[in-house]
Amino acid sequence: MIHHLHLKETDPDVARLIDEEDERQRTGLELIRSENHASAAVLETLATTCGDKYAEGYPGRRYYAGNEIVDKIENLTRDRAKKLFGVPYVNVEPYSGSPANLAVYVATCKPGDTIMGLDLPSGGHLTHGWKASVTSQFWKSVPYHTDAHGLIDMNDVARLAREHKPKLIWCGATAMPRVIDFEPFAQIADEVGAYLVADISHISGLVVGGQHPSPVPHVHLVTTTTHKTLRGPRGAIIMVTEKGLQKDPDLAEKVDRAIIPGLQGGPHMNTIAAIGVALHEAAQPAFADYARRVVENAKALADALKKRGFKLVTDGTDNHLLLVDLTPSGVGRGVFFHLALERIGLYANKNTVPNDPSSPFYPSGLRLGTPAATTRGMGPQEMETVAGWIADVRDAISDYQLPTEKEERGATLKRFRAFLSTDERFASLRSDVEAFCLRFPVAALKND
Ligand SMILES: Cc1ncc(COP(=O)(O)O)c(C=O)c1O
Repeated sequence: MIHHLHLKETDPDVARLIDEEDERQRTGLELIRSENHASAAVLETLATTCGDKYAEGYPGRRYYAGNEIVDKIENLTRDRAKKLFGVPYVNVEPYSGSPANLAVYVATCKPGDTIMGLDLPSGGHLTHGWKASVTSQFWKSVPYHTDAHGLIDMNDVARLAREHKPKLIWCGATAMPRVIDFEPFAQIADEVGAYLVADISHISGLVVGGQHPSPVPHVHLVTTTTHKTLRGPRGAIIMVTEKGLQKDPDLAEKVDRAIIPGLQGGPHMNTIAAIGVALHEAAQPAFADYARRVVENAKALADALKKRGFKLVTDGTDNHLLLVDLTPSGVGRGVFFHLALERIGLYANKNTVPNDPSSPFYPSGLRLGTPAATTRGMGPQEMETVAGWIADVRDAISDYQLPTEKEERGATLKRFRAFLSTDERFASLRSDVEAFCLRFPVAALKND
């Protein structure tokens, strides 16, 4: 168990808040598909002296003295990543997923070049060229989309690529419940001469655990965050594949330069060490079993929700996440589910659905994921219980609809929040969720 003894003495205010966050995680359930619980070993590594060390540059070529040990750490982490993903080159210094993706642009494109990515309402990430992201201000973004069934429309990708001849194509998503087939992307990218980069932030744990095909044979570059299904610390890795080096033998060097001096200064050496620990954990046979159970649980949750009348985008899932289409019960109701589930200690998030009749701020969907629940040891039976609670919440909030008049929305949400805090049904569900969660301890918070 993490006691925070020194922190309690030095700064009781921060210590108390961290205790509260520990308690929230212990007594609630993270169904946010991009979150997980890193192991005690990973968290311990983050809180080490490596975080104090400045190490601008790369192993063997730093701008500061005293790097002989952290050089070994970064090399170890790099070697583990290369082995686990089967790539000849990695950069483990990006501070997180967004800077990693930005570095890919800097390494492969000039400002103003055309790029393509899945648009955000279809499940793409901000950094894949969404209009509110700098990636669409510095580069000309031509988004592709999902079809009416929520699947990536490869005809759309091919047509747009032939018409716009992009320099870079992103494949990968932040909210896609189905397997991404990288081969057709490769055919299109090769035909138009584009760099193809797979952003596997969401599925990297499933890729190394054998539950999702690897993009490595098909793409030139791969990026991944390290804190989602991979279950490491917050961070990211950029990889260059053999295919990438064949297209451009300087690509690895360009990626390194894009990170530093292009975008970043000193790497976070404690994070790099913790990524190394997470990769070591992910290389163990138990991790493959974990990845298998993540998918098993997602399918079980999908089936249990469908049994209770919920509609799912693509009618199910192949991976760790599912997207509930709430439109049958009303437009723009994601926010009501998000708040009501939060009230009872089930953390999920609102999300747009394909052709959402509402706006991204008041979307009509709910996204759920199983990586964190699986880490806590939950299985299909527990997913059945969780689906039951989600249905109970649906029944309890059935009177609340999103007003069509924008001016009325604030007042409705205010009334809704008051309803959540006073209606007995939510207090009772909250107690049930708490008792349930305490049966499945978060490893780093276990009593010792
Ligand atoms: C596909 C994808 N790429 C990149 C990112 C960005 O990662 P970060 O939040 O670490 O910047 C995310 C995060 O949600 C993501 O889902």
